[in-house]
Amino acid sequence: MLLLGIETSCDETAAAVVADGRRLLSNVVASQVELHARYGGVVPELASRQHVEAIVPVTEEALSRAGCRLADITAVAVTTGPGLAGALLVGANFAKALAYARGLPLVAVNHLEAHIYAAWLDREESPAFPLLALIVSGGHSDVVLMEGHGRYRRLGETADDAAGEAFDKVARLLGLGFPGGPQVERLAATAGRSSLRLPRARLDRPYDFSFSGLKTKVLRLVQGQEGPAPDRAELAAAFQDSVVDSLVSRALRAAGDYGVRQIVLAGGVAANSALRAALSDKSPVPVLVPPPILCTDNGAMVAACGWHCLQAGDAASLDVDVQPGLRIG
Ligand code: KG4
Ligand code: ZN
Repeated sequence: MLLLGIETSCDETAAAVVADGRRLLSNVVASQVELHARYGGVVPELASRQHVEAIVPVTEEALSRAGCRLADITAVAVTTGPGLAGALLVGANFAKALAYARGLPLVAVNHLEAHIYAAWLDREESPAFPLLALIVSGGHSDVVLMEGHGRYRRLGETADDAAGEAFDKVARLLGLGFPGGPQVERLAATAGRSSLRLPRARLDRPYDFSFSGLKTKVLRLVQGQEGPAPDRAELAAAFQDSVVDSLVSRALRAAGDYGVRQIVLAGGVAANSALRAALSDKSPVPVLVPPPILCTDNGAMVAACGWHCLQAGDAASLDVDVQPGLRIG
């Protein structure tokens, strides 16, 4: 069973072909990073227009790399939310047109759920329920209990900025480019030993995060409001430590409280090596983390998740709408 997965929720136009929800036959991602870099963030209207230009060639490339034709595809899965409305519409309408023209089932996929399914692509391991998913991306930071396929409970979330958003904003404060996550990580890796320690937010709800106070602290330090500004690399490292510590402590606490059998680290920020290492080192249960290319937005995770939805009889009708504010759990 070959699924074509389409993803256009933010600034990557992506398509992939996945066999039986697990085996990656192709994974093509056209990133718009250069287009948005000069604005310091994603410009929604530019993203939509770029998706319109890229969606056909990206899909053709995905089919060709998989060594198949449209006639070989069993179903089309597409992200319908959450994300930027105009960007989601491009992928959703393209997928609907393909499904209609070819008489194929259409599957509407939740982007956050798709991030979780990246964990089992091209892997021997299978989902072991209940599991805990820590989904950390540019738009979301969620601690989710997954009790079975399609069965989610959101246990915790961010009170303000998402983890990736905090990385992007702090990168800007440090004079780094967009997207900020990888650049903060690179700068942090050059830091020497330092006693600089930034605060970790404490919240009433045990599995929630907050990063806005941390961001303000970095701003004050950079601007020299608390004495001479610290070295930029040390600041990047201390910021990264604080974010990693908050994420890992909340995830492990939830994992212990709910007796999970597995932890899945998902979303763009899961590409961060400090976070990957800290969670894997400290967790008493196996931690699954996709390779970095499958952590950031891609079509393969959409196809993998779509396959499970289809197994559960959850195909969408051709008038399915996009849901920019869709959540998980
Ligand atoms: O999942 P994703 O590709 O898009 C969304 O669904 O938002 O995540 C993008 C986010 C950006 O904020 C980016 O800065 C962050 O993931 N990111 C990282 C790293 N690579 C990407 N954050 C920290 N360290 C990284 N290595
Ligand atoms: Zn994402």
